[in-house]
Amino acid sequence: MPRPDPDLVARLRAAGCVFAEDEAALLTAAADGPELEVLVRRRIAGEPLEHVLGRVDFDGLTVRVTPGVFVPRRRSEALVHAAVAALPGSAHPGRPLVVDLCCGCGALGLAVARRAAVDLHAADADPVATACAAQNLAGVGTVHTGDLFAALPTGLRGRVDVLVANTPYVPSGAIGSMPPEARDHEPRTALDGGRDGLDTARRVAAGAGEWLAPGGALLIETGTAQAPVLAEVFGGHGLVAHVGHDEDRDATWVQGRVTV
Ligand SMILES: C[S@@+](CC[C@H](N)C(=O)[O-])C[C@H]1O[C@@H](n2cnc3c(N)ncnc32)[C@H](O)[C@@H]1O
Repeated sequence: MPRPDPDLVARLRAAGCVFAEDEAALLTAAADGPELEVLVRRRIAGEPLEHVLGRVDFDGLTVRVTPGVFVPRRRSEALVHAAVAALPGSAHPGRPLVVDLCCGCGALGLAVARRAAVDLHAADADPVATACAAQNLAGVGTVHTGDLFAALPTGLRGRVDVLVANTPYVPSGAIGSMPPEARDHEPRTALDGGRDGLDTARRVAAGAGEWLAPGGALLIETGTAQAPVLAEVFGGHGLVAHVGHDEDRDATWVQGRVTV
């Protein structure tokens, strides 16, 4: 990539962009002339770089992410890898059925489907997110809009081999101390998990048993301190649970299986 204009780098640095050189190079590669200036002004005003560029790198893929949609975090790649590892073995008849609940732009499901041949359904309550997911998952999976399991076709009941969910898990009281990029540009419904951050995760754990196939797995990303609480919730709904952690990605999740 050619060296970006030093004035542009200086403007981005003055606006607080830590990786000003890299960002300037990416913005310059995305547009030029007046169009570039529009992108630069959006970035200087505090929009996440991924929204300005309209894309994010996730698990080796370039994924579309539009303004108003949660930007997938690198740490969630760990959830993808754990979900792939939880897929049934080759004795399973046909393609395993995977559901990405609270899918946002659909990055998690897309990454699972790139790593394994699966039947993929993804769902989110926010129609802005599902419009974005439908673009990312065109030809890969089916996207539904609605509240958690109510969004899914009833024909999936009792058949889901792997249910993966990155539910909102920031405690309500901690939203105010999030970086402004997230707080001001990602929907509160994508971040706020209620008093202890586990409201939506509890609902997913409570409903999962009805949708999972015998031996099926549920995986929910969570904070490290929340994980033991969520693992107990899983246990209360008949799932044999353990906590997974990926040191490199600073990622934690709870994984549970329906006993056969
Ligand atoms: C933390 S974001 C994760 C998005 C995506 N899975 C990712 O990792 O990039 C949480 C998502 O949950 C969705 N969500 C929140 N409450 C929901 C509900 N009751 N039913 C379905 N989706 C919900 C939000 O719209 C948001 O897209």
